[in-house]
Amino acid sequence: MIHVTQPSLAPLDEFLPYLREIWSTGVMTHNGPFLQRLERELASRFDVPDVVCVANATVAMQIALRALDVTDGEVITTPFTFVATANIIRWERCTPVFVDIEPGTWNLDPAQVEAAITPRTKAILPVHVFSAPCAVEAIDEIARRRGLKVIYDAAHATDVRRQGRSLMTFGDVSCLSFHATKLFNTCEGGACITRDPELARRLRRMRFFGFDEGKEIVDDGMNGKLTEIGAALGLANLKYIDQVKANRRRKYELYLSCLEGRENICFHTYDPDEYNYSYMPVIFDSETTLLRVEAFLKARGVTPRRYFWPALHLVRAVNPNGHRGSLPVAEKISSTVLCLPLYDTLADDDVRQVAGWVLEAAGRPD
Ligand SMILES: Cc1ncc(COP(=O)(O)O)c(C=O)c1O
Repeated sequence: MIHVTQPSLAPLDEFLPYLREIWSTGVMTHNGPFLQRLERELASRFDVPDVVCVANATVAMQIALRALDVTDGEVITTPFTFVATANIIRWERCTPVFVDIEPGTWNLDPAQVEAAITPRTKAILPVHVFSAPCAVEAIDEIARRRGLKVIYDAAHATDVRRQGRSLMTFGDVSCLSFHATKLFNTCEGGACITRDPELARRLRRMRFFGFDEGKEIVDDGMNGKLTEIGAALGLANLKYIDQVKANRRRKYELYLSCLEGRENICFHTYDPDEYNYSYMPVIFDSETTLLRVEAFLKARGVTPRRYFWPALHLVRAVNPNGHRGSLPVAEKISSTVLCLPLYDTLADDDVRQVAGWVLEAAGRPD
């Protein structure tokens, strides 16, 4: 079997000393020493003043919306994303307003964001899809001019820079995922990143039941903590992030060298230095071709994934009142994109084999 992804893990013997320490101190959670160290090391790595680690990216977005007082009204977002992005807007009793994406990057189109703003709009929640940065300058400028908050779903975009500047420094808050399948993982986990120290304090209180440093209940709160075991795994894995990224990039480029230049296969637009190579999305000329390739690969023990399908504005559970007009780019992209297996330990021969099968299946007549 070749799965779409596999976790990147430090050698077990480098993780065990952390576990021994947890076993001897009995400190397993609650802002423990490993969590504090991980937050410091991530802040330094990402070149940001502070990192507030939480249980996962979904909780990160939930806390961020609440901390920015986005508790009603409309939140403009993309339909080409994982369901968590839209779920969390509804969970916070706001209404997701879906607007279309750019045909190249597959990220929110700033012109369409501007056109969708109404007196009820409170925030914009764009996604750095597959880790390629959104048009952050344009989106932040619109938000400033129209008095809106910006929360970036940066679940895919760990360790990405935009023209040399940390991508995490745009918007009000960026929300990262450290899930097992991501570039960098703490098993389950995530983080909120903001440049505003007062907002960071509020995010910390909210992840910890609303307690302040003196354990007084001073704010809305929930249990959004990252455990010491998760933080320890993060510390062990963090040492390998450059190696993991470089390996993924090599395999991504190997896929490209096998697949580029074919009539019915294309790729998204990305800057090679502003991408973390978490995903290997390919786009086919039609859904029929995609389904043929998917079935062909599955029959040979390869499990690609349809990230992200269906487009969320078409899903009744997240958009019960229907969308405002059609979103043709998102509909076209979501029905024709397939993510091929990509992880740092994937063998080069497997990349060549998968690419060969993709070409074989894509080349067949409908
Ligand atoms: C775009 C996007 N946002 C949010 C999430 C949720 O992340 P988590 O599993 O850390 O809650 C995911 C998960 O893969 C995702 O792809």
